[in-house]
Amino acid sequence: MKFTIQKGNGLKGEISVPGDKSISHRAIMLASLANGNSEISGFLEGEDCLATIEVFKKMGVNISKNEEKFVVEGRGLHGLASPSSPLDFRNSGTSVRLCSGVLAAQQFSSILLGDSSLSSRPMTRITEPLELMGANTISTEEGTLPIRIEPVESLKSIKYSLPVASAQVKSCILFAGLYSKGITEIEEKVTTRDHTERMFNQFGIPIDISQSKAAKIIQMSRVEVINPSNIYICGDFSSASFFILAALITPNSELLLKNVGVNPTRIGFLHALKHMGANIELQNEIDSFEPTADILVKTSNLKGITLNTNLVANMIDEMPAFFIAASLAEGTTKVKDAKELRTKESDRLQSMSEVLDSFGVKFQLKDDGIIINGLGKEGTFKASEINSFGDHRIAMASSIGSLRADGESTIIDCLNVNTSFPNFVDVCKQVGIDIKQL
Ligand code: S3P
Repeated sequence: MKFTIQKGNGLKGEISVPGDKSISHRAIMLASLANGNSEISGFLEGEDCLATIEVFKKMGVNISKNEEKFVVEGRGLHGLASPSSPLDFRNSGTSVRLCSGVLAAQQFSSILLGDSSLSSRPMTRITEPLELMGANTISTEEGTLPIRIEPVESLKSIKYSLPVASAQVKSCILFAGLYSKGITEIEEKVTTRDHTERMFNQFGIPIDISQSKAAKIIQMSRVEVINPSNIYICGDFSSASFFILAALITPNSELLLKNVGVNPTRIGFLHALKHMGANIELQNEIDSFEPTADILVKTSNLKGITLNTNLVANMIDEMPAFFIAASLAEGTTKVKDAKELRTKESDRLQSMSEVLDSFGVKFQLKDDGIIINGLGKEGTFKASEINSFGDHRIAMASSIGSLRADGESTIIDCLNVNTSFPNFVDVCKQVGIDIKQL
């Protein structure tokens, strides 16, 4: 699948983006482990979250759609059935890493698979702590999928200091912690997204969080029963980020994004853009279990910045969009301590450097970041054919970047957009972007 996009002008409108991907995975997982029925509304029906649904269905959980709500008939912490064939997590790193924590504690074996991109992503970051908890995991020599998980009598709790800033690793341990004897304790020196902790709260699972200057400490104990809960999922900030970018870089634009999740551990992109001079306003802020707001964005003249490295983990998925903003800012933008970008659906430092190169932007690529020479407010990208490397966020960031190109741009290999934002093209059209899907 490819997109063609024309130069943009005057984007206007009020839009909603689909449900949050991270929250959708966690809602299905906990609802499946609860005793009774949970209803989930606002669920993201993207390929990644549908993979999570398929995995739990394969383990005997009934999940159905009733009008706009998903009804999950939870089987309890010990009620999952042994899957009759390997569990296919397709492209979803979040799904495979979080579910591993649950699977490590089951009294049946499982085989975890993924597509070629997921099969090349690092998994020792989860198998190491799971092994410390007493789990029996067998992965490839390279520490990648497929992983085979064999049952063990019981898991024991660990005290673990996260060696990488990863919410997926933290969450894997927390899910295993639901089954582990003793107190599971995680030290997080760099704060990562806290959706698992918030979702545990929603399902009544006690979790204790304390914050010192040096680190966050998260503690939990094994639970006997999880009660069902009805969950409402807000719009995904990461999907919204592409339309925030679109309004900022396209002349004469004003967009209102309704009901977007603005969890403080997710909005590093907003802080960074404001530092660059972006005209962004949060309205109608609601402090529910996941805080939400409407986001009003107007065309802005951006200036280059040295990105505060503390923001990196809280904008890790927005980095491709941020690189486009930096390329159209006045002056230089420096990003470091962002090596994690190399472990995503594609090596996003490499992929984005190739996108910027096609757009005619000058930059210096580093092992852990990039220095981008912005073209400034009058700057124009070179219209060209861009490879998205089968990575949804590269495809969407370069589609939006094309709004500032000097002609028609083509983005190739875009099917992966369906993993997180299945109606991306429709929402683009709604705000006046001239985009075609071929
Ligand atoms: C996610 C965590 C992040 C993020 C991913 C979703 C999650 O990954 O990139 O898209 O839902 O926990 P890491 O934890 O590996 O940084």
